[in-house]
Amino acid sequence: MSAMRPIPRPGVLDIEAYVPGKSTAPGVAKVFKLSSNETPLGPSPRAIAAYKACADHLEEYPDGSASELREAIGRAFGLDPERIVCGSGSDDLLHVLAHGYLVDGDQAIYTTHGFLIYPIVTLGAGATPVVAPEKDYTADVDAILAAVTKKTKIVFLANPNNPTGTCLPFDEVKRLHRGLPGNVLLVLDAAYADYVRRNDYEAGIELVATSDNVVMCRTFSKIHGLASLRLGWMFGPAEIVDVVNRIRGPFNITGPAIAAGIAAIEDVEHQERSRDHNTRWLQWLTAEIGKLGLKVTPSVANFLLIHFPQQKGRTAKDADAFLSARGLILRQTTAYRLPNALRMTVGTEEANCLVVKALADFLR
Ligand SMILES: Cc1ncc(COP(=O)(O)O)c(C=O)c1O
Repeated sequence: MSAMRPIPRPGVLDIEAYVPGKSTAPGVAKVFKLSSNETPLGPSPRAIAAYKACADHLEEYPDGSASELREAIGRAFGLDPERIVCGSGSDDLLHVLAHGYLVDGDQAIYTTHGFLIYPIVTLGAGATPVVAPEKDYTADVDAILAAVTKKTKIVFLANPNNPTGTCLPFDEVKRLHRGLPGNVLLVLDAAYADYVRRNDYEAGIELVATSDNVVMCRTFSKIHGLASLRLGWMFGPAEIVDVVNRIRGPFNITGPAIAAGIAAIEDVEHQERSRDHNTRWLQWLTAEIGKLGLKVTPSVANFLLIHFPQQKGRTAKDADAFLSARGLILRQTTAYRLPNALRMTVGTEEANCLVVKALADFLR
């Protein structure tokens, strides 16, 4: 027998596989999952109806180019549908971009507490992830620019960032773009853009429209409540859209996802309700948790990062165990280089109040 076996490409075995937020608390009857930044309001009833209506035609392949969905997104944002590509979640598009633009030995930059998928897709493409330090849990344009070398091919910027909830104002994003060589692809990951209510923020549409090396990724998993269907989209220059279309799966999104996505993006009232709920409870949680003496990083997204002391019995790990025992599941952030924090998704009124009460009991 031969001792030979298939060898994966360099970098693959260095990948720490992505560990999603927990969804169970053993022994607890009622569980509140606040670990994956899902919306507490669920999807638009119109999206659910559109999804169900697909049940009679599951034998048919979906439209591989998702034309009607791209047109609906185009109408919603005033964009040319030809410059939009849909993916099986924005994760899928991040993978495809990495495979399209990175070769062995290249480098891709992300920030210290940046989204975990960036090093995964970078290593998966045989390239090296390079970490640029942050300032106050926020991406630092000067540090990113200082990390650029001749080998840099992509800069991944989650704006707002997960798990910190911080964002860069548009002027800073433009300054970052101005400082990058034209052959470096700037990926603006705007998964949480729908929640941001700051006048100085822009998800990146204008920058994509006026440059050759910027793409913006968006998702249906957050404000639209369709995480289970796996649906994301990207807006980019024609040449980059062409590259993604060449290497993505030919039927990378499903018929039910297309139908539900169209209904979701057209239900503006539902989005507004979700945004209002988030704004109200994000402010409340930040204030109430702050009053307990815990530091909360100011967030513009649908989650918040809560910092815990390192004192025995009071640590993030202790808090996680205490909250889990009450069915309140938050996200541990050690993999994000934040071992002393927990990330909490803004939940229903009931869940939010229970967390504040539980934290008060924990600290007592
Ligand atoms: C910053 C960021 N980008 C992308 C994604 C991926 O979203 P999707 O469900 O569209 O793959 C997430 C999901 O949590 C995220 O936090």
